[in-house]
Amino acid sequence: MEKIIIAAIDEENGIGRENKLPWHYPEDLKHFKQQTTGHTVLMGRKTYQSLPENYRPLPNRENIVLTRSNPKLHERVKKANSLAEAWKKASKDKIFIAGGETVYRQALPEAGKMILTRIPGLHDCDSFFPEWDAEKWRLESSKENSGLVFEEYTRKDLNTEKTKF
Ligand SMILES: NC(=O)c1ccc[n+]([C@@H]2O[C@H](COP(=O)([O-])OP(=O)(O)OC[C@H]3O[C@@H](n4cnc5c(N)ncnc54)[C@H](OP(=O)(O)O)[C@@H]3O)[C@@H](O)[C@H]2O)c1
Repeated sequence: MEKIIIAAIDEENGIGRENKLPWHYPEDLKHFKQQTTGHTVLMGRKTYQSLPENYRPLPNRENIVLTRSNPKLHERVKKANSLAEAWKKASKDKIFIAGGETVYRQALPEAGKMILTRIPGLHDCDSFFPEWDAEKWRLESSKENSGLVFEEYTRKDLNTEKTKF
């Protein structure tokens, strides 16, 4: 199973404010949809509950929500009480780790790929993408569209993942 981080980050690695995205970029939402459709999406409970009601669960994707508190969620949502349980419950080949901060922090060491959208400016964020070691990641592509930059990174030591099979 491929574990892929997907995040939009501002110039100080900000990702959210008051449990919401502090910006609205339709191009980025389209990009998120294109990347994740047909696959598994893993989110923290706060991120899931921050989605607009008519967008949750995210359609045409397997939704897994990390929680230790057993909230009432939609019947199509799978709950997991640990990352290990989330990996077990995922039935697709690709699992997209879609935030928020606590989930990125825990899952980053296990991810083999990162798909980042660079959002221009600063947005007074109160949640942040974790620092990562640039030495360990290779920038595979970088594309500009509508003022945003879409980047893809792979982990240089990804082979350790492959040798498990
Ligand atoms: N810019 C982006 O790309 C992006 C993407 C996603 C989210 N965001 C932003 O990120 C912010 C939310 O981040 P956050 O860190 O506050 O919340 P979060 O990571 O979305 O959710 C945290 C919750 O997830 C559950 N959880 C986390 N780790 C767990 C584990 N190992 N096992 C079981 N449950 C676990 C817990 O739920 P319980 O309390 O239910 O136990 C915890 O309270 C929002 O502002 C959101 O808009 C930004």
